[in-house]
Amino acid sequence: MAKTERCYFLTRNIFDGILNQKTLFVQKEVLRHTYQPETLPHRGHERDQLSFNLVEALKGHIPSNMILYGVTGAGKTAVTRYVCDQLQSKGESIGRMVHPVMVNCRQIDTQYRVLSHLGNALLEDYEREEIPFTGWPTDRVFSELVKRMNARGGVYVLVLDEIDHLVKKAGDDLLYNLTNLNAELKDARACVIGISNDLKFTDFLDPRVRSRLGQQDIVFNPYNAEQLQDILRSRAEVGINADAIGAGVIELCAALAAQEHGDARCALDLLRVSTEKAEQEGLDVVEQNHVRIAQAQIESDQVTPVIRTLPTQQKLVLASVLINEKNGLRNMQTGEVYHVYKQACSNIGQQFLTSRRVSGIISNLDMLGLITAKTISRGRYGRSKEINSCIPTNIDPCDVMSKAEPSLNEVFSAKYRHQSQL
Ligand SMILES: Nc1ncnc2c1ncn2[C@@H]1O[C@H](COP(=O)(O)OP(=O)(O)OP(=O)(O)O)[C@@H](O)[C@H]1O
Ligand SMILES: [Mg+2]
Repeated sequence: MAKTERCYFLTRNIFDGILNQKTLFVQKEVLRHTYQPETLPHRGHERDQLSFNLVEALKGHIPSNMILYGVTGAGKTAVTRYVCDQLQSKGESIGRMVHPVMVNCRQIDTQYRVLSHLGNALLEDYEREEIPFTGWPTDRVFSELVKRMNARGGVYVLVLDEIDHLVKKAGDDLLYNLTNLNAELKDARACVIGISNDLKFTDFLDPRVRSRLGQQDIVFNPYNAEQLQDILRSRAEVGINADAIGAGVIELCAALAAQEHGDARCALDLLRVSTEKAEQEGLDVVEQNHVRIAQAQIESDQVTPVIRTLPTQQKLVLASVLINEKNGLRNMQTGEVYHVYKQACSNIGQQFLTSRRVSGIISNLDMLGLITAKTISRGRYGRSKEINSCIPTNIDPCDVMSKAEPSLNEVFSAKYRHQSQL
């Protein structure tokens, strides 16, 4: 390396250029999911329903238990957090003991952990013992929680977000116990709010728990494209330079997210990533093509890890579908996938599974959104599946799988005998 070149490298830091690059964001945080916005357009009705119930806590009464339903990204967590924050600050200002506590049951996913989390959230003075992460009998944790709630007094609003995860994993004992809390409490009161994005969630509950919890339900409908535009505009006003958003960009982000299932999170991601793309190109304005690039990247970021982490047998079944497609086969039947799958297994010395198990794997790949497996009726020949892959075109699934498991290279390079269709 020449001396002058070395000097250049010694004095220059790779971040200099990027750090000084002009930014299109005013506050990027505002476009992230974790940001709690000041206003929540198109959720006034849900906010009011929630606050009309929770106002009871400010009067010292017990609010009704509630279940909040709605598709992902419909604003359930954002609205509830907003209302809980307002409730807490009103309680403080009028001297009422109101304690909203939110627990995310996807992260804290056992009865023990939720109870200990609630108990520790109420830990005020130092002489009290922290409930350990594990090790106590559950009823001891429960009675410690009751003791602490009584000692503090007031009205507790216990919000169990993404509760469907916990119930599917660990049953409804927690809900049974928490909805029975008022029978145990002497100097305090409690209500429970469960939030779920599975509309069939109550089917998993014991009828007694269902009737106690579902005293009042609120359904959060998916946002439509116009509503998503308003949400994006309200966030963009604070988060992005006023003249950095090109014509039609917000509309396109909203339309794409509305097509999915009206998910505000997805719309925000599209707007944030497309602004990042324009910024990386050193441009002053985000254009619609950046939204398309952002969409492809987000899709790829979501799908690639799913493919990469499939167990080997599932990769082999997916590979068999792809090999058939490469040979011009569409709408294939399970037998045609199985025929290639068996050869693929023997190519890499893997034991092959029964056709029944492979059929189960096909359903799983369908559930993951990597293939579509439509069941169709063939009249007197019974029913069969029509299988096609549905991986976004900017992803090369064969490459992703071979990189994750190099032995699969042989699967993709081998020659296959194909079953002739009936
Ligand atoms: N009406 C709204 N106005 C502004 N931002 C919103 C609105 N609704 C949702 N958002 C934003 O969209 C993102 C997703 O919302 P939220 O987390 O509340 O969805 P959710 O219904 O709880 O979804 P999930 O079921 O996946 O948990 C958050 O960043 C939230 O701030
Ligand atoms: Mg949520």
